[in-house]
Amino acid sequence: MKDQPIIETRKLWKIYYAETQEVEAIRDVSIKIPSGKTTCIAGPSGSGKSTLLALIGLLTYPSEGQVVLEGESTSGLSEIFLTKIRRKKFGFIFQSQYLLPHYTSLENTILPLLAQDISYKDATQQAIAVLEKLELEERVNFRVRQLSGGEAQRVCIARALVTNPSILVADEPSAHIDSRLTEEFLQLLLTLKEEHQLTVIMASHDPQIIKIADKEIELKDGAVKNGLFSKAT
Ligand SMILES: Nc1ncnc2c1ncn2[C@@H]1O[C@H](COP(=O)(O)OP(=O)(O)OP(=O)(O)O)[C@@H](O)[C@H]1O
Ligand SMILES: [Mg+2]
Repeated sequence: MKDQPIIETRKLWKIYYAETQEVEAIRDVSIKIPSGKTTCIAGPSGSGKSTLLALIGLLTYPSEGQVVLEGESTSGLSEIFLTKIRRKKFGFIFQSQYLLPHYTSLENTILPLLAQDISYKDATQQAIAVLEKLELEERVNFRVRQLSGGEAQRVCIARALVTNPSILVADEPSAHIDSRLTEEFLQLLLTLKEEHQLTVIMASHDPQIIKIADKEIELKDGAVKNGLFSKAT
């Protein structure tokens, strides 16, 4: 359906139980993520950005409410099925990078492809192509522990994009890179958006990122601030 949001959340809640404390990390969040656009989730530290991304990316179950993907509710789907959807549709850039430090840039980038029905030779070619796009051709066979912070971040970006996902979920993607590399990363996203109608959902308070977003959603204490979007779509 035209104009159907690619993802929608309906009255979403996430409550964490830590020791004796209850944290309402996401409170009654109903939002629409437009397809083929860039949405930025902003808000201060602890406002629930990473939690909302984890819910949207089907990495964790909500305490209440629903995540609707392409018009279908994901409530009640098994972990196996959710994993299949994640592998097929999503690419992730996490706030903590989760790279394997003793493996090379190439090996880290290939990993998501190994879960797919693709030969090792084709997977290697695909991974090298995306590493080249991120100016890492000289670092393909370096182990991640031998890379600079910015280079490691670019391996994270490569790993997220290597499966040609339709939705990229990126948590603070500019956290470990300088403004020049952020600019290049954003240019790459714009190209992918135009070529493959990539939908991008980022959490960030970086003005460079907020500036290029088509839609901005601001969180405060786990809820959408004012319940309104600051940029129309
Ligand atoms: N596993 C957990 N157990 C208990 N509380 C948690 C857990 N994960 C997050 N929280 C709490 O939920 C709230 C939201 O955390 P979240 O990581 O989503 O915030 P954030 O906006 O991404 O912050 P930052 O900008 O610092 O990354 C915080 O108060 C945090 O302490
Ligand atoms: Mg966070």
